[in-house]
Amino acid sequence: MEKILTMISAKVCAAFETAGYDPAYGKVTVSNRPDLCEYQCNGAMPAAKAYRKAPIQIANDVAEKLSDDETFSEVQAVAPGFLNLRLKPSFLASYLEQARTAPHLGVEPDPKAGTVVIDYGGPNVAKPLHIGHLRAAIIGESIKRIQRFFGNETIGDIHLGDWGLQMGLIISELRCRQPELCYFDESFTGEYPAQPPFTLSDLEEIYPAASAKAKTDEAFAAAAHAATVQFQQGRPGYRALWKHIMGVSVPDLKKNYDKLGVSFESWLGESDAQPYIPPMIERMERQGILEQSEGARVIQVQEPTDTKEVPPCIIMKSDGATLYATTDLATIWQRMQTWNPDRILYVVDKRQSLHFEQVFRAAHKAELVRPETELRHIGYGTMNGKDGRPFKTRTGGVMRLETLIDEVTDFVRAKVEENKLVTGDDVEQTTAKIAMAALKYGDLMNTPTKDYIFDLDRFAAFEGNTGPYILYTIVRIKSILARYGAWEDLPITAPETAEAKDLMLALTRLPDALELAYRDCAPSAICAYTYELSGYANKFYHETRILTEEDKQKQQGYIALIGLTRRVLETCIDLLGFEAPEKM
Ligand code: ARG
Repeated sequence: MEKILTMISAKVCAAFETAGYDPAYGKVTVSNRPDLCEYQCNGAMPAAKAYRKAPIQIANDVAEKLSDDETFSEVQAVAPGFLNLRLKPSFLASYLEQARTAPHLGVEPDPKAGTVVIDYGGPNVAKPLHIGHLRAAIIGESIKRIQRFFGNETIGDIHLGDWGLQMGLIISELRCRQPELCYFDESFTGEYPAQPPFTLSDLEEIYPAASAKAKTDEAFAAAAHAATVQFQQGRPGYRALWKHIMGVSVPDLKKNYDKLGVSFESWLGESDAQPYIPPMIERMERQGILEQSEGARVIQVQEPTDTKEVPPCIIMKSDGATLYATTDLATIWQRMQTWNPDRILYVVDKRQSLHFEQVFRAAHKAELVRPETELRHIGYGTMNGKDGRPFKTRTGGVMRLETLIDEVTDFVRAKVEENKLVTGDDVEQTTAKIAMAALKYGDLMNTPTKDYIFDLDRFAAFEGNTGPYILYTIVRIKSILARYGAWEDLPITAPETAEAKDLMLALTRLPDALELAYRDCAPSAICAYTYELSGYANKFYHETRILTEEDKQKQQGYIALIGLTRRVLETCIDLLGFEAPEKM
């Protein structure tokens, strides 16, 4: 449905026209002086220049044309030539009633919606998920939900890091520890065992041990590199070990992403793109876009308009090895062949921005995508500790994601218990929901590219701009609605009080907030809106006797209003990737 600003602007534009002026001057904006008016139009000022008249005269002419319009309760021309506007309560109510009963609360889907792949995983198999993966998961999940809301077919692709040196490290370490295993016997021709020779906790110990060893032991590092190459070239015993590593590691990754409320439609990895590499390089050779550079095969991606140097994208090193960029290009080609997306969004650390710039340009040059396919990197900054440096464990290590979630959960549980918010079985459920809201909102409220400080005290506070505050607002509304009874079909009616009107005006701004978040891939726009709306909702709640109101008509209007507020808030937090408990 049409946005309220569009409708109001149309009215004012028409009034400019009937008053004899160019309708283009009638654009309306939300007032920046809410104490004076709700909306404003400043078009009389530029019009004054064009028509060589005093702006106030033009404003007066237009105001007169709008004097008995059913949209406005007040149209005031004020010096030097502003038009201050207030909406008629009945107009506002009928607008919101239409939104209440429309699909998606009246927010229009993108007419150009298509298929979107979102790459927001990138965990490296066999290494536990750590906090470096947190932002990709949280921001990516939200962006996926926003893309879907606007009518796109979305595919969240985890893009597992399952092809790199970590495999060779684990294989080599295992070989040191258990050289007798059949996986290392090159003459072995039987079936490899179905059971893995290690457990998840073995694996979690083996990888860091191997990685540390490779840093001091050159021979070991060389062996790990050799094992990586042999694995990549298809040595059967190593491939069998790789399968075991995947089999043990992937369910654990799933479990951890589940805890975060993050899911992927596709669990493909770097390994799945490898078969696409040889034909892709052959095709690039035929296209004549590969150049020789110091023995390597590269694609030049510098453009005449560049103000900085963009180094060539290296496709193959002189020893025939392919690189991270090669895999990403092959993955793009694979995705185009599998899903033919209109857009591929990468939610990856902003330190990889040059890599993506090179890959995107190379992908277009090699025609791996359609000319109109949008490739976009949404780079995020670092999550820092209170000291302003990358967040670490107390002992200075990289914190596992599981540990972080546990710490947030314990902190929230203590608050839930201390304040006796809920009891019995509800404690864990409520705690988990508040913990997710604290963690996710604390991240999403920031512009993705900015670094931010992880501050549990602040994130988990029930007051201020936090996830738990939003949940608290929703839960409060839910509890009134539950006590009232059936509310779902009550129509929105004209506001009785200033607080009700403010809340209604805030509700009309939902489409603007969501469109901004969609266009800029910025969940932070939804956070800002949700916080603003919660403020109006709480103010209304404080100033209004809802359940004790004796005038049933009035009461129904109040209930319908908070019912709609609840649906809008719940829609917003769903797009952010968390949900409200029943009680708190
Ligand atoms: N596994 C990579 C890393 O640890 C991240 C992958 C991001 N996605 C991509 N398509 N390159 O840095």
